[in-house]
Order: sequence, then C-alpha cells, then structure tokens
Amino acid sequence: MSTPDRVPAASPTPVRRLAVLTSGGDAPGMNAAIRGVVRLGRSHGMEVVGVERGFKGLVQADFIALGRRDVGGIVQRGGTLLGTGRFPEFAEEAVQRRAVAALGAARVDALVVIGGNGSQAGAHALQGLGFPVVGIASTIDNDLLGTEVTLGFATAVETVVEAIDRLRDTATSHRRIFLVEVMGRDSGFIALHAAIAGGAEVCLIPERPVDLDAVMRLLVTAYALKDHAIVVVAEGASPNLVQLAAHFEARAAGCGLEDVAIRTTVLGYVQRGGRPSATDRVLAARLAHGALDALLARRFGVMVGMRGGEVVLVDLADVVGGVKLPPGDLPGLAEVLAR
Ligand code: F6P
Repeated sequence: MSTPDRVPAASPTPVRRLAVLTSGGDAPGMNAAIRGVVRLGRSHGMEVVGVERGFKGLVQADFIALGRRDVGGIVQRGGTLLGTGRFPEFAEEAVQRRAVAALGAARVDALVVIGGNGSQAGAHALQGLGFPVVGIASTIDNDLLGTEVTLGFATAVETVVEAIDRLRDTATSHRRIFLVEVMGRDSGFIALHAAIAGGAEVCLIPERPVDLDAVMRLLVTAYALKDHAIVVVAEGASPNLVQLAAHFEARAAGCGLEDVAIRTTVLGYVQRGGRPSATDRVLAARLAHGALDALLARRFGVMVGMRGGEVVLVDLADVVGGVKLPPGDLPGLAEVLAR
C-alpha cells in the first residue's frame, strides 16, 4: 500500500475496539467491505461493532456487536447489512459532537466510514473533532476525489449496460429512439461508461454543456445509418430527460424525424441494487485491507482508495469539497464510436 499524499500524524493510541458504518446511497459491495473490515479487524484481535443506519444511527448510539459469523453469507448481497441513510443534520457541529459522545460512551477507539462524498465529509468532520476515522471510498457515482474508482461503480455500470442492451433490442425492432436516464445527480461517470460500453449514439452529462441542436444533428445522422438510436442521459444533465424529449417532439419535424417515435426509460434505483460483481467484491476486500493497515499504523483522517491499481491513503481534507471530473477523453467518444 502506498501513501502518496500528505497524511495526518499517527496517533499513539492503539485501536482495540472498532466501529464501522455505511452511509449515503447504498452501493453493491458495501456488504463485502463490512465483512472485510469485521474479519480483518477480528483477525488482529479487535472488537468490532456495527453502526445501524449510518450517521443517524451513530448519533442515536445504535451499535451492534459483529463477530466473524455475523457477516457470513453477505459477500454476494447488494445493499448494506447495517442499513444506511441520508442525514443532512450531520453537517451541524452539535450533532457531530453527539456522535463523538456516543462513540466515547461505547468505548470505541476508531470508526470506519464506508460511503461517498457526503459520508467522507462526515468522516472528516469527526476527525476534525479529534475522533480517529478511516474512510472507504464507496458510491456508484464514482465521483470521489483522490481515488480512480469507488466501490459499487463497476457493478452499477454493468447493470446499466445490460439495460441498454435490452433496450436496443426493442429500439431496433420498432425503429425507435430511446432516451435512457441513468443515475448521477452531479456526475457523468455512469453515463459515460455505460454509453461507451453499450454503444449509445449520444451521451449527455452534467459536466458538459448540452447543445440541443448538436444533439438533434447526431440523432439525424444516427437514425439515417441505423433506423434507431440510444441516448444516455445522466440524471443531472441539463437539459434533463423530460426536457430533451419535449425538445425532440417540438423539433423532429424540422429535421426529417417526424415519423420517428421516441420513448423514455428512467432506470432509477435498480442501478443501486443487485449482487456486486467479482470486481467490486475484490475491490471491497482490498479497500478493507487498506483500512485495517491504516488503523494498525494509527493513520487517521484518511480515505482508502485506488490509484494506478494500488491501494492508497488520501487525506480526507483532499477528498471533501472537491469535484472529480471524468477523464477528458470520454465525453464525445461514444458518439464517434457509434457511427
Ligand atoms: O448513490 C448516489 C446516487 O445514486 C445519485 O446518483 C442519485 O442522485 C442519488 O444517489 C439519489 O439517491 P437518494 O434518493 O437515496 O438520495
């Protein structure tokens, strides 16, 4: 494991009792990560407790003891055994202090936080109050700074690509244009990967300005070649799926697509569920291992992520508040490849 970034100083106190929680949107592989943290922690003689329902459960001191067998049979299951939730109140310092008090009362020495941007921000806040925290990068959106990949992203992309393959069957049969909305409130990673892997003709993401006339031109070209088209629209793109469909209905006649039917599909929460891919299960194991290494070295205030195929520790201060943009070669690639 490499530690390329500046890392906070090691704490002198060894970790004997460890807590783990999952927070924010669930992601396939979270269970595998919980299992990894529990079993690796136990193998180093630590007691491990789970926190139910993320930071809300932490504030309410909802702890459960976790032994090796308590995490049996979950490596292949989506969702999270511990439950999760959005808890915006955790942005308040008074609420964070209640969490620190709950951890102290439960004699917990350190906390592992498995989650995405909001979760790592919560972890950073606890560390700022002096409580030892290690984060594990997990969100289907893959939009966390400091790591090239997040736990759950690979599985979510597989789910979306399978859906696009199915939609293409019906699109070609009926000679229709399909607009498919995928998750990514602030981020186009899922949309870009799924569009390229699924051979979509157009891809709209929040990070790239959308020129509606250019989209119509792409659709005219694609339809002339193939008699169908698939447009992948990230949830946070502007215009969104509904606005794009309305634009198409209003302008189709002007560009020769007046007899072409358009259909919309919102994939929604199916993208978050399902059994994690083998890739995500292995990633969960490696990230959990990295977290245990950090805990044993008493390196706190860090998130475990991946860079260049290696597990890395990134200072939480370098993770929170920033924006991870998709690689510059991805936008536009789907459109070129689909011709
Ligand atoms: O998990 C991330 C994410 O899937 C985003 O892409 C999406 O906007 C959001 O979660 C919605 O989740 P919720 O309804 O749980 O807030």
